[in-house]
Amino acid sequence: MTKKICILPGDGIGPEITAEAVRVLNALNLGFELETALLGGAAVDATGNPYPEATQKLAREADAVLLGAVGGPKWDALPREQRPERGLLGIRKDLNLFANLRPAILYPELANASSLKPEVVSGLDILIVRELTGDIYFGQPRGIEIREGERFGFNTMHYTESEIRRIGRVAFEAAQKRGKKVCSVDKMNVLETTQLWRDVMNELAPEYPDVELSHMLVDNAAMQLVRAPKQFDVLVTGNMFGDILSDEASMLTGSIGMLPSASLDQHNKGLYEPSHGSAPDIAGKNLANPLATILSVAMLLRYTFNLEEAAGRVENAVKKVLAQGYRTSDIFEAGTQKAGTKEMGDAVLAAL
Ligand code: IPM
Ligand code: MG
Repeated sequence: MTKKICILPGDGIGPEITAEAVRVLNALNLGFELETALLGGAAVDATGNPYPEATQKLAREADAVLLGAVGGPKWDALPREQRPERGLLGIRKDLNLFANLRPAILYPELANASSLKPEVVSGLDILIVRELTGDIYFGQPRGIEIREGERFGFNTMHYTESEIRRIGRVAFEAAQKRGKKVCSVDKMNVLETTQLWRDVMNELAPEYPDVELSHMLVDNAAMQLVRAPKQFDVLVTGNMFGDILSDEASMLTGSIGMLPSASLDQHNKGLYEPSHGSAPDIAGKNLANPLATILSVAMLLRYTFNLEEAAGRVENAVKKVLAQGYRTSDIFEAGTQKAGTKEMGDAVLAAL
């Protein structure tokens, strides 16, 4: 049966970087059927809904989704339900993509792009496993109301033990294939929800005797990530802490423009997207770095389709263009060859 991939270019630089990733996907000649749909601001402009029904249908039918990025100042003043971000949260929830994998890898060629000393980050290879469909992001009740004569804002943080257990398993299983260490991040000294998080992680640990489990409070984790990031192998945490720590971890590598991500359900159906945003300031200027999206294609091949060899080919092609000296402006340094979005895509295709 033909395998379907739903392409969601999104907003800002999304369409440009997705175009390069699609060229890579086509060049691999794996017989995928690709269909494009709208998400985010582009969808709001066309239909009034950031996750329109046509997109829902396509995304549900597809085996995998490849997303560029959503959002931009143009839509910031809209009511909350119509903001582009709501489209992204909507598709994550709709497809039950509870497991967000965000690798932070330092490519040796880019060691100087990091704001940390090379000896602190060289060889860095962390995997952040972020829970993506629960927590304060989705908790009810929520809102802004008038109470006792003044405005009152509120959100609700919660996790069920089964939600914690399933993301915990993803982290332990990922660690088994890597450095065999899981650090679970919580705020159990203050928040009951995260006390439960820690308890459930401890209950799971005996099922994975080959993996060493440790725990860290989120404030300390934020500090340790810049103090000694190489102590981490797999880091597992809830939706909100994971949002924050994954941005922090990405910058250890010098450029968020290099980092892919996967969001998976129980059956390895996945949505793949760069970890960065839509960068409206450089949209349409052939300046964006397409490598994170191209590397998201590699994750798509690996996690949804089990095509390890093809995934490796894409990753090696990226390593090759870096070794050849091609750099988009976000990772440019003296002595390297400046490339635009398209030229970077050309170089990756040539390396393939
Ligand atoms: C991310 C983003 C999103 C999030 C926003 C755009 C809703 O920051 O994917 O990390 O907070 O999850
Ligand atoms: Mg984020």
